Amino acid sequence: MILPAQSEWYKDAIIYQLHVRTFSDSNSDGVGDFRGLQQKLDYLEELGATAVWLLPFYPSPLRDDGYDIADYCAVHKSYGTLEDFKAFLTAAHERGLRVIIEMVLNHTSDQHPWFQESRSSRDNPKRNWYVWNDTDELYRDARIIFIDTELSNWAWDPVSKAYYWHRFFSHQPDLNFDNPEVREAIWQVMRFWLELGVDGFRLDAVPYLVERDGTSCENLPETHDIIREYRRRLDESFPGRMLLAEANQWPADVCAYFGHGDEFHMAFHFPLMPRMFMAVRLEDRKPIIEILQRTPEIPQNCQWSIFLRNHDELTLEMVTDVERDYMYDEYARDKSTRINLGIRRRLAPLIDNDRRRIELLNGMLMSLPGTPVIYYGDEIGMGDNIYLGDRNGVRTPMQWDGHWNAGFSEADPERLYAPIVSNPVYGYQAVNVDSQKRSEHSLLSWMKRLVQVRKSSQVFSRGTISFLDPPNHRVLAYVREYGNDRVLAVNNLSSTSQAVELNLRKYKGFIPIEMSGKTIFPRVGELPYLLTMGPYQFYWFRLRRI
Ligand code: GLC
Repeated sequence: MILPAQSEWYKDAIIYQLHVRTFSDSNSDGVGDFRGLQQKLDYLEELGATAVWLLPFYPSPLRDDGYDIADYCAVHKSYGTLEDFKAFLTAAHERGLRVIIEMVLNHTSDQHPWFQESRSSRDNPKRNWYVWNDTDELYRDARIIFIDTELSNWAWDPVSKAYYWHRFFSHQPDLNFDNPEVREAIWQVMRFWLELGVDGFRLDAVPYLVERDGTSCENLPETHDIIREYRRRLDESFPGRMLLAEANQWPADVCAYFGHGDEFHMAFHFPLMPRMFMAVRLEDRKPIIEILQRTPEIPQNCQWSIFLRNHDELTLEMVTDVERDYMYDEYARDKSTRINLGIRRRLAPLIDNDRRRIELLNGMLMSLPGTPVIYYGDEIGMGDNIYLGDRNGVRTPMQWDGHWNAGFSEADPERLYAPIVSNPVYGYQAVNVDSQKRSEHSLLSWMKRLVQVRKSSQVFSRGTISFLDPPNHRVLAYVREYGNDRVLAVNNLSSTSQAVELNLRKYKGFIPIEMSGKTIFPRVGELPYLLTMGPYQFYWFRLRRI
């Protein structure tokens, strides 16, 4: 079943990001699978998600949690079969849930048959599918991304006695996108999944597709040409499907990936994310306003995707050195929580399990411009396990209930792909879906209401934003407008109570109606509009001319 091509559905989406292996294990082998995930679709629907983004589920040696793909057109056997995937997709579509999958096109695993052939000899027909060189001297201006593990972007291949290029781990050789055969092969992969009915792709690591000597090898015009070509083919054969860019770059460089509305439909706003955390810590709205004011307008058919946390470290690539030091000092005192240029923690532990800050940050996530992404488990305030290596600490099994293995799997605990978080604060007996469903006041119940309110008006998903400039800098206030709909959002970024005077002269005579309780507030008059706010409190008011 293919969902009808509803125009620009991605703008109004609530995306839930998850890894099949972390979610639910149906066959008791300790690893989540598609059948398990299918059984949990009710949960996603109840939460209010309208799309699910799946992390890579393809055959892989799993040295980078599946971002090292060994076969693009199959399912890793621990997660089930292609038939299981199809059944899951149909079940999701029956509920109107869209499915976004990963297209890791910059590189493959070194176990991929393409690379095995390419390395087998210098005159193999697939030699040119990867980027080979006799020395490691070329492209010296390209930075290293995984600075904690890699010393060079070149690795020596003892088989064919040459160097191959890799922007990530050395077991992830980069494909050669100058080769038309590679470009075609990747399109055929996309076609395969599109024909099955997937609604969109997150294109992994797009800035790095093409290399040119003397450049940073990022965001090159040739890379944009490739994307434009994929988009053209997508629109031609699969209208209504969506491309989402993972381009961890400054706003102007990311904006280039929207092209003239002819490249990506969506792109993550990487620079905004750390600034939301920074603003809450500094108790000052400046970082958020500055970065959004530096963000150029995007074409009408495009949309930002915004997030608080994801499966990677909280990346600090898109901040200044001073800002990075500040973030490390405030959010990662324990040095073992730092990795590459970032912090490998989940939302709740980052902010010391402070429910008020969890709510405030989610309030901003749901009211700033863009499509929000919720990282699985953050809706119940799950913790992490910093003793697991790499970024695995934020990828532990979903905590469903207080029983055996948190309801994730019936396997012996030793067999689980990763241990369940079990400490007294974040452990599954304290933090789980079942217990939170029983309480109206739990984080989960609160998140459901927040998502409902967000979905009650397209002003959040499609409206413009204008910032107010109240003298009290601890308060971030903005008005979103779409057609005749207007919402005023006011966020107290501070740990103490605040009073704020808002200049709402433009809305004189309007009545603010607080959206979660539908409470009518005093009419806006001539004078500055006075609000008092508790620590980390936020309000959403619909502005009605009554
Ligand atoms: C992306 C993924 C990350 C992965 C990397 C290399 O940045 O989000 O998890 O390690 O690409 O594929």
